[in-house]
Formats: sequence, structure tokens, C-alpha cells
Amino acid sequence: MFQRLRARMGKTSDKQPEALDRDNIPEHIAIIMDGNGRWAKSRGLPRVAGHHSGMKAVKRITMAADRLGVKYLTLYAFSTENWKRPKAEVEFLMKLPQEFLAIELQELIDNNVQVRMMGYKQDLPEHTLSAVEEAVRQTEDNTGLVLNFALNYGSRKEMIEAVRLIGEDIRSGRLAPADIQESHLEKSLLSSGLPDPDLLIRTSGELRLSNFMLWQLAYSEMWFTDVYWPEFSEEHFYEAIREYQRRARRYGGL
Ligand code: IPE
Ligand code: IPE
Ligand code: MG
Repeated sequence: MFQRLRARMGKTSDKQPEALDRDNIPEHIAIIMDGNGRWAKSRGLPRVAGHHSGMKAVKRITMAADRLGVKYLTLYAFSTENWKRPKAEVEFLMKLPQEFLAIELQELIDNNVQVRMMGYKQDLPEHTLSAVEEAVRQTEDNTGLVLNFALNYGSRKEMIEAVRLIGEDIRSGRLAPADIQESHLEKSLLSSGLPDPDLLIRTSGELRLSNFMLWQLAYSEMWFTDVYWPEFSEEHFYEAIREYQRRARRYGGL
């Protein structure tokens, strides 16, 4: 009994966030949550069991980010390329937002979390979109952590759409090609209104971006781990931030 209590207390107090510099917490952390399928396979489970278990990691890391005072947490949940997967897996993934929100939305509200979505809505099934939009609506006035789900997100599509918008401004005479600034592109991206990520985390050992925030990650610090997303713990998250705090960001300067 005592041991179990200690183990449980350890879950909340032994995580050593004390070793983190509270004055240098990344304002925006973006995570490529990868490795659900391999995690499941390694346990002899179907891939979808990994996606299901990954939801618990979403909850865990959202709460950890909130406690640390992270302002924005962007989670890559489904890419514009993930439609290539078997239909049954895609259908399972499209049910997760409503399942996640049915269980967790109240606690997110209680913690003043603001839910947002970054991605293309038109291809999403109605049941997925309505669950997400309802969560966005119910939390839009919250002023705490912004939990931004990249859902049906793809960076190249995002850039093409941004260029299209700029093209419209040029055609209508609102903008001259010679006057195009970074800010014009930025405000046309899905990430408009968010600062660029300070820290990018990718789990599962893959060392690539997979079409994620290619513009926005220009000067982000990157941290990769072999750990599969369902096993990604608060301790791993703190380790990534600790490593971030050891780095010197120079932005091309000295
Ligand atoms: C990440 O896990 C979740 C999504 C891409 C939706 P994967 O499903 O990519 O898992 P692996 O990479 O195949 O192990
Ligand atoms: C990136 O993971 C997309 C998400 C985590 C949602 P993938 O598993 O789709 O990436 P690749 O195919 O290994 O590059
Ligand atoms: Mg993967």
C-alpha cells in the first residue's frame, strides 16, 4: 500500500522539473507524435491499439506542458499524406478526436486550455470535424495553454495555399510583387497568429520532418528520441526541454 502510494506520488513529484530553468521554458513546442504502430507491433497488438494508447500520451504531455507554463503546444496528429493508409486505420484515426475530447474536454476547460486546429477541414469526416469545432468553440475564450492539433495538416499544401492568397492580392492590385515580405506569407499560413516553434520533438527514431511546419521550423531547436509516442513520458518531455535549455540559439548571428 505504502509502496503503491509512493509510486503514485512519484508520478507527480519525482519528475524533476525542478532541474529546469523556469525562465527559459520554450514558448511554443511542436511534436511529431510518431511510432504508434511500431509500439503496438512490438507488443503483438494491432496498429490501432498504438493510436489508442497514444491518446494517453497526448493527455500526459498536454498537462505537463500546461504545468510548465508552455504557451503553445502543437501536436501533429494526422498529415495530408496519412490518407494513403489503409481505410480501416484512417477511419480509426478519425474517430480519436471525438473519443479524446469526450473524455478530456472538461479537464481541458477546467485547466483554461484553449483548443485549436491547424489543418484542412474540408476532407475530414463530419463527426471528426464537429467534435473538434465544438472543443474549439467551448475553449475559445480560455487564456491558458493553446493546444493546437495539426489535423490533416501538410506544410507544402499550406504554402501553396498561402501563395494562392498572395496571388489574389496581387491580381486585385492590393499588393505589388516587389513588396512581398515574410509577413505576407506568414499571415497566409494556417499557423497565422502562432509564434514559430522554439522546440520540435519527434519520437520513434525517425529523423525527418514529414511535411511538418517547414516554414515555421526555420530556426527551431530539434530534439529526436527513439522512444515510441505511446511511451513518451513527462520525463522524456523534461529531458527535451533540458536539452533545449543547454543550446545557444544564434539565428545566424554570433
Ligand atoms: C504516428 O504513429 C501517428 C500517425 C501518423 C497518425 P504511426 O502510425 O506513424 O506509427 P509508426 O510510425 O507506423 O510506428
Ligand atoms: C508523421 O508521421 C505524421 C504524424 C505524426 C501525424 P508519419 O508516420 O506519417 O511519417 P513518415 O511516413 O514516417 O515520414
Ligand atoms: Mg509513423
